[in-house]
Amino acid sequence: MAARVDALYFFLVAISVFFSLLIAGLIVYYAMKYRRRSDGQIGTAIEGGLLLEVTWSIIPFVISMVIFVWGASVFFAMASPPADTLNIYVVGKQWMWKFQHLDGQREINELHVPVGRNVKLITTSEDVIHDFFVPAFRVKADVLPGRYVNIWFNATKPGRYHLFCAEYCGTRHSGMIGEVIVMEANEYQEWLSGGGPAGSLASAGEKLFADLACNTCHRPDSAGRGPVLNGLFGKTVTTADDEMIVVDEAYIRESILNPGAKIAAGYQPIMPTFQGLVAEEGLLELIEYVKSLQTIPQAETR
Ligand code: CUA
Repeated sequence: MAARVDALYFFLVAISVFFSLLIAGLIVYYAMKYRRRSDGQIGTAIEGGLLLEVTWSIIPFVISMVIFVWGASVFFAMASPPADTLNIYVVGKQWMWKFQHLDGQREINELHVPVGRNVKLITTSEDVIHDFFVPAFRVKADVLPGRYVNIWFNATKPGRYHLFCAEYCGTRHSGMIGEVIVMEANEYQEWLSGGGPAGSLASAGEKLFADLACNTCHRPDSAGRGPVLNGLFGKTVTTADDEMIVVDEAYIRESILNPGAKIAAGYQPIMPTFQGLVAEEGLLELIEYVKSLQTIPQAETR
């Protein structure tokens, strides 16, 4: 995204420089041209000029529309991650960045990504508002408690890049920094496999799912008291209030912490809240587990 952001930025600078020079030049020029030439000289009254006023309205209008359309197209490109992304979860916390790879690797204040891949960060905060900022990628977004904000980038050059928190978040805000390490694809694979025995995020979620006894109600065979979760992620469901909802990360999160908010049609509001029982990382594991149920045939799940 850097090239597109920079092009717009330099366009803005060029416009500003052009008009600053034009206006400053005209001030000097007119000050000399229309200076008072003799004591007691009185200037002529001017009633305005329609052509002049229309011109200086239309030109700035056209320029600002160019900036608007150009800026909007860059904004929408930044705000909509492509379909094919490598997903990594990010949790901001006073005062560190925690990253969770789908394969189970966890890192703090360091993020390893492969070069040339679309990477999507699904970010949230476990306390206050932070802001994920990698200047080299022109990537910057608020990381909010209670929500999932998606950020995406495609790193084009291997190397190490600064990562900052760009929102004052308390005493050690300035220390909430890290590095994004962009590696060649094969080095990245090697790095991933060197992560130790930790299982995938989805398998950690499966274990947590069982530990919290979620599986007593959410069963794959529709005999449970809660909705079947297999194949649910990404689907549109109807709530008891006849609202249509797409099952995404935010909906799963809400359904765990505040189950009464949006009950699936046909089910009783009997699920207890898990507020305070599941940490942000645990929520991400559960979400990834529900996502993983897409591909598992119902017969094979417990
Ligand atoms: Cu986190 Cu500033």
